[in-house]
Amino acid sequence: MEYKLRKAEPGDVSHILRLVKELAKYEEMEDQVTLTEKELLEDGFGDTPFYHCILAEVQGASSTDGPKVVGFAMYYFTYDPWIGKQLYLEDFYVMEQFRGIGIGSEILKQLSDLAMNTRCCGMLFVVAENNESSIKFYKRRGAEDLSQQEGWRLYRLAKDKLLKMSAPAEE
Ligand code: ACO
Repeated sequence: MEYKLRKAEPGDVSHILRLVKELAKYEEMEDQVTLTEKELLEDGFGDTPFYHCILAEVQGASSTDGPKVVGFAMYYFTYDPWIGKQLYLEDFYVMEQFRGIGIGSEILKQLSDLAMNTRCCGMLFVVAENNESSIKFYKRRGAEDLSQQEGWRLYRLAKDKLLKMSAPAEE
């Protein structure tokens, strides 16, 4: 089956949100997706994009159908004060019926090209520990488990905690 990769455009936010939700459903956390198309539009396509996406498209089933978006990678750049620029892969997903034909590998190739062209030192990502097939997919490509090897733990300060710290102190 033929597919094409392309950079996401503002008109793609509905596809992006659909795929974000599909991946969250795959990870059994769909109810945690609260993001809207409006936010995706503002955050990814303004003067300072907070994320970028590569989309994978196949031709629709009939000749009258347009292309169908079947997979994506959402990424952005981070900075490590020890080694410099890194590419952070936030979401990576191909619809089940289109897996195993090379779309995921081709997306990773494009991201690797981008990382090399922008002089990144690596690509970071978080994988749910029960997502064994995906862990194997990354390990076959040489990924190292930093939580295991270096003992890093993922922390978050949620919005209510930030509000508490940011609010002016009561008299
Ligand atoms: N489904 C999945 N994998 C298959 C299938 C199939 N039906 N058939 C064969 N495979 C094998 C392929 O041979 C290939 O093996 P390889 O690693 O030795 O090359 C590998 O599985 C899949 O390779 P591709 O076809 O290049 O990748 P694909 O288009 O299937 O995309 C991806 C890979 C994105 C991981 C996809 O399987 C997926 O969406 N999985 C579910 C969601 C997921 O776990 N996403 C990653 C979460 S982690 C994060 O987002 C940072």
